[in-house]
Amino acid sequence: MNKKVRLAAAVGAVALAGAMLPSAYAQKSAAVQSIEEYRAMLADGNPSELFEAKGEDLWKQKRGPKNASLEKCDLGQGPGVVKGAFVTLPRYFADTNRVQDLESRLLTCMDTLQGLDTKAIIATPFGKGEKANMTALATWIAAESRDMKFDLPQSHPREKIAYEVGKRLFFERAGPHDFSCASCHGGDNWRIRLQDLPNLTKNPGDGVGFAAWPAYRVSDGQMWSMQQRLNDCYRQQRFPEPGYASDVTIALATYLGVNSQGSKSVAPAIKR
Ligand code: HEC
Repeated sequence: MNKKVRLAAAVGAVALAGAMLPSAYAQKSAAVQSIEEYRAMLADGNPSELFEAKGEDLWKQKRGPKNASLEKCDLGQGPGVVKGAFVTLPRYFADTNRVQDLESRLLTCMDTLQGLDTKAIIATPFGKGEKANMTALATWIAAESRDMKFDLPQSHPREKIAYEVGKRLFFERAGPHDFSCASCHGGDNWRIRLQDLPNLTKNPGDGVGFAAWPAYRVSDGQMWSMQQRLNDCYRQQRFPEPGYASDVTIALATYLGVNSQGSKSVAPAIKR
């Protein structure tokens, strides 16, 4: 090969590489960009405010056989304190001797303060009746801690156990596809079609993963609580449905919440 030909071949190779690499890259970043633009557009009109208003109203309303409001409910910061509570949950509660997430704690208050039938609430499908009320309450309570940083306590032995159990559950592979949570959320920059799959084995950052739910889902026009998010991911994993507010879901939430320590909550977020 003479010098000229060699140079031409080299230029050709560079041009070829230049034609292929950046275009593949550009394609990917254009997709990412359009998703981001779509999300920004959505965020302008987040209908979560409607759910927040409903939740605040439910908190203050006298309801149930005991005709009481939830205003004396202790979410971990003392009776009636809502601001800041969301970013410290799940945590240990001495009165129930359990680690509880927001929704299981609300069930405790609905039972003790209002006398509502929590078994019936647990059995109600997501998005219906009292279950929709739970989601509205969780949405308002989360919104009261918007932009605050996650700070879950890990000092009580039960809180430490919840984290360790949650971690094991996260990596537990089973079911027809032998999937675990980590099969979809165990690495960086994973995606299914156009959906980002945050790496939940470490802190995914402000407003991602645990720090985004409850969230309004544009695709089905519904507000989803964290319990519903976990329930649906177990469905995607082809696992049996976990019990609502069960210890399994609370342990998983503790693992995700402690991993998100120090990240800002944007809940209620808006999702595709
Ligand atoms: C088969 C893949 C798959 C498995 C397994 C799976 N997920 Fe997901 N997960 C998804 C998808 C897809 C989304 C995004 C859904 C959407 O945008 O509607 C998601 C979203 C999430 C989110 C919200 C992320 C965010 O930033 O909004 C959390 C939290 C989550 N999953 C937790 C879990 C947990 C915990 C498990 C195990 C019990 C699990 N997932 C198992 C596919 C999976």
